[in-house]
Amino acid sequence: MPSTKTYTYKDQTFASEQEMILYLLDEYRCVEGFAAQYLGAWKAVSQMPCVTGGLRTVCGREQLHAELLEARLRELGGTPQCEVPQERLAELAYYGSQEYSDLAKLEKVAVRLKDPEKILAFLTDAIAQIEDDEDTRELLSTILDDERASLQWITSSWALLQPQAATS
Ligand SMILES: [Fe+2]
Repeated sequence: MPSTKTYTYKDQTFASEQEMILYLLDEYRCVEGFAAQYLGAWKAVSQMPCVTGGLRTVCGREQLHAELLEARLRELGGTPQCEVPQERLAELAYYGSQEYSDLAKLEKVAVRLKDPEKILAFLTDAIAQIEDDEDTRELLSTILDDERASLQWITSSWALLQPQAATS
């Protein structure tokens, strides 16, 4: 009887672990590369030293992730194909613009990342499905640790820097 087990990553379903991994490595590489791009553009124009300093690490991590994911993709015989969707390019213009303050940008990111574990569920779910390729699994799980650290910096910086809410 053929196996009916399937694997899922984001909204895609795959017949094998390896197919899921190849797709994930390419898609996630793409996401991370774009994050490094817009965070780098923000860092280049940021005015608050405490934001600039954190962005150095967060942006550096995203760049490293993109490189590690691409290297593993190539090792497994894949080639980078995924491209950043056109509509996300507006974010690059926003974060790289001096017209918006660091606080406005931090708020935008912090609001989106309110529930870090929910944001990272795509990754934790994928890792939980990997049984055979322990190499990729641990690559992803150590990247996951980095992502948690980055999200932590964003939420704690916003908690510290946000304008005091009016007390009722
Ligand atoms: Fe990331």
